[in-house]
Amino acid sequence: MRAKITIVGAGNVGATAAFIAASRNVGDIVLVDIVPGLAEGKALDMAQSAGVYPFVGRIRGTTDWDAAAGSDIVIITSGLPRKPGMSRDDLLFKNAEIVRSVTQQIVRTSPNAFIIVVCNPLDAMVYAAAAVSRFEHRRVMGMAGVLDSARFAAFIAEQLNVSVSQVSGILLGGHGDDMVPLPRYTTVGGVPLTQLMDASTIQKLVERTRNGGIEIVNLLGTSAYYAPAAGAVRMAEAILRDEKALLCCCAYCEKEYGVGGAFVGVPAVLGAGGVEKVMEFDLTEEEQKAFDASVGRVKALVEKLKSVL
Ligand code: LAC
Repeated sequence: MRAKITIVGAGNVGATAAFIAASRNVGDIVLVDIVPGLAEGKALDMAQSAGVYPFVGRIRGTTDWDAAAGSDIVIITSGLPRKPGMSRDDLLFKNAEIVRSVTQQIVRTSPNAFIIVVCNPLDAMVYAAAAVSRFEHRRVMGMAGVLDSARFAAFIAEQLNVSVSQVSGILLGGHGDDMVPLPRYTTVGGVPLTQLMDASTIQKLVERTRNGGIEIVNLLGTSAYYAPAAGAVRMAEAILRDEKALLCCCAYCEKEYGVGGAFVGVPAVLGAGGVEKVMEFDLTEEEQKAFDASVGRVKALVEKLKSVL
């Protein structure tokens, strides 16, 4: 049987994710949006594109949550995007309300689904989906690390003039300006980045990665969507195909890295069980300090949310 993936929100990220997932034959896709006609129209257009480049799954758009029933994976993209001058955190309360009502529908229609959250502020929204759904932690996760590590990898590949397929970027922390790219563990063809680039060039690329989202917001007037959508589909594929893929994503950590109970960005193994394992490795004092600071900020946002959820 084909997998069923529901994508919530037919805006830029959701529609792009639907198209990527369809094109990669991930399964049958349901695109849900509250705006009448929006998901229907986009899904119809995508379905017709299969007449040119065929794909296997069915794709339909709807305002009706019942169409999502029995989904294996639900990707939540609905929420307000950032505008120039806004931080991801500015979206906290508005998007928490949206995530709450979407999550209630997921619990009603697809109680066994995995949830992949994409909207911002990412780590806090993953907490919101987990708190409202009460699903096991391994079934609730957020897409940010795949995007941030892809950005880091793209900048490195451009700088070294090598194929991005050879670059494996690793980073930790919340999806914010204080994310912690780890050059020591980032490799190009298996060789640590620190062997291939001087420290000041690495630092420039780290900064560009941290500001990768806002760079695009400033160019477009709205948030990025091709790479975020690709990141969400990548996580869904890893779960549906039981890949045991090591991907940076927002996952629940208790003892890991001394986090003490929070959803934050870490390298994790994704497979049929969802987040099957958080990969731990040694951090220098400086790396651990930067990670702790980022986790502290995520926890502070979650505290604010606790009063409304
Ligand atoms: C970004 C937004 C999606 O990083 O958070 O582009």
